Amino acid sequence: MKSKGIFLIGIDTGIGKTTIAAGLGNLLFRKGIKVGVMKPFATGSKQYSKDFRSLDTKILKAASGNKDNDDIINPFFYSIPTAPYLAKRILKLNENIDIKKILNKYKEIENRHEFTIVEGIGGLMVPLSKDFCVADLAALINLPIILIMSNRIGSINHIIMTYRLAILSKLTIKGIIINSRCNFSKRSFKLINNNLKCIVEEMTGAKVLATIPYLKKPFFKKIANILEKYEIIKNL
Ligand SMILES: Nc1ncnc2c1ncn2[C@@H]1O[C@H](COP(=O)(O)OP(=O)(O)O)[C@@H](O)[C@H]1O
Ligand SMILES: [Mg+2]
Repeated sequence: MKSKGIFLIGIDTGIGKTTIAAGLGNLLFRKGIKVGVMKPFATGSKQYSKDFRSLDTKILKAASGNKDNDDIINPFFYSIPTAPYLAKRILKLNENIDIKKILNKYKEIENRHEFTIVEGIGGLMVPLSKDFCVADLAALINLPIILIMSNRIGSINHIIMTYRLAILSKLTIKGIIINSRCNFSKRSFKLINNNLKCIVEEMTGAKVLATIPYLKKPFFKKIANILEKYEIIKNL
């Protein structure tokens, strides 16, 4: 493990950022590493519970043995499941997002842990305010990134666009994880995922670090076991 953390970026929402972040957090926790987790921006149709405004925060914390409270892990929450800037406009909130507040919380988390996992929101161009998007936040936090893609139709286009934008934004790309959101037959799965891995590596030059199969119950312990088989920690 060479870096002090990783920022997980999806090619889209619902792609498996939380699932993979939780699996990775759990694997590191099992190895005795003190794991910090952060979800700087979260949205949802309503607050998830008294303790966790977002379900993502709850999952990340539970998986990684983390002790921080929701306010530190998730500085900004909007109760409309859209891009944060859109949610802010719909909710007619005047409060401007305070980037310094996020960076200070990130530094605080980073200082108290051996490795920090940050989960983005949606894709790289999701607006957090008028002129600030997830790519800008990732550049300020300045952790290497892992791109999460799916094996569903349209994913090649999304991963190449995301990859190119990450390069333009001067982000350091550790690699790509293919998370199978589509359940194909065993034969099709092998054929599609093996070729998908080759194409993505060929077209980006980035390494596919792991391929997660479609799982009926994608619990973090299972994901941790799969990531361990891929020796993911060696690549962090
Ligand atoms: N490999 C997988 N197989 C089956 N379902 C998955 C897999 N990965 C994620 N999911 C499911 O997909 C949904 C979206 O995943 P999530 O990790 O919340 O995505 P994101 O954080 O990118 O929005 C969740 O219901 C999750 O349980
Ligand atoms: Mg999530």
